[in-house]
Amino acid sequence: MTILADQVTDAWAFFVGTLHPAVLHFPLALTVLAAAAEVWSAVRGRAAPSPFAFTCIWIAALSGVMACVTGWMNADSYSDGGMDLFLHRWIAISGTAALFALWVTGGALRSTVRSKGGASSSVIAAWRLALVAVAFGIGGAGHLGGELVHGDGAVPEAFFRALEATEQAKRDRAANEAREALGIVSPPPQPPPQSAPAPAPAPAPPPAPPPAPTPAPAPAPTPAPAQQPIAVARIDFKTQVLPILASRCFECHGNGKRKAGVQLDDVSAMLRQRKDRWIVKPGAPDESAIVRSMELPIDDEDAMPPEGERVSKADIAVVRAWIAQGATEGVAAPAAAPPPAPPPAPEPANSSEPVP
Ligand code: HEC
Repeated sequence: MTILADQVTDAWAFFVGTLHPAVLHFPLALTVLAAAAEVWSAVRGRAAPSPFAFTCIWIAALSGVMACVTGWMNADSYSDGGMDLFLHRWIAISGTAALFALWVTGGALRSTVRSKGGASSSVIAAWRLALVAVAFGIGGAGHLGGELVHGDGAVPEAFFRALEATEQAKRDRAANEAREALGIVSPPPQPPPQSAPAPAPAPAPPPAPPPAPTPAPAPAPTPAPAQQPIAVARIDFKTQVLPILASRCFECHGNGKRKAGVQLDDVSAMLRQRKDRWIVKPGAPDESAIVRSMELPIDDEDAMPPEGERVSKADIAVVRAWIAQGATEGVAAPAAAPPPAPPPAPEPANSSEPVP
């Protein structure tokens, strides 16, 4: 495996990016300190700005530039570029610009105080107010940044997962009832799942009657269970799709890594539409970036994985089939309604569904 110049640059950019959380606390702390010092000066009726606050401000302004640069380089690995990133980025950049403005105006005020023995008290008050406002603004940007790293909306996400699990359970129950009505024997209990890296924890819906113990990762087509004429060759995300992604993509898009903001260990993250494109568009494998990136020839710069062996055609077919079937997290109930007439005795048939 050869290391390309691009990757070296990427690695360094990533390293500088990781400094961001360390670098950003410095200007934030200095600005808050300067604001506190100036509030204290105001209470004491001193002429603004104090040498201490002034020093804090210019150091904060310079280190704010560092925070912005490292943050910009880091954005991809922490965020998929939503509104929070937009706000965080621009509040931080305007906060830094405001620090420079405070530095310049503070310097002017200081020389006025020095040469004329004083400055207009309303100008001093305005300058102090601006400083306090900037401290709050930068604090707000930091808060948004924390949300970006620690995951925004963890609570709503958990809520929607629970909702989804409930819906899934309902579908499963309906499918079971349909099977019972048809007099179809329950399939054998599900074998323990393969030791694939677990995706983000989701409240597990009551296990659907499994199609069949399929080896993971299983190349298509998947043999359909003989005794289940209605559930035919559903691709199961956890046992069939996840192992492919885990072995070929997680190095950069899983287990906390989100190159280009792409996270492939969490179905709900994959289903979010990004600006103009879908990572996974349910029902439309051809419009899903994940499929396109695997099918591109290796010399294309968007080919995934960016180096090494291509993902096999069989594996891509599994991913395609999973997306075509709706890209659900579990084994969904069959979409088509069961046939109205109950078969008297289900014939053991080795039906299999070819996967496109
Ligand atoms: C060695 C690291 C690495 C591996 C392994 C990797 N990727 Fe990526 N991936 C990247 C980088 C870096 C980018 C950003 C590329 C760019 O912006 O040009 C990216 C971007 C993407 C994108 C976004 C493309 C777009 O339209 O912007 C998708 C989708 C993607 N990868 C899918 C995958 C899939 C699927 C796999 C596994 C088959 C995979 N990646 C494996 C590093 C990797």
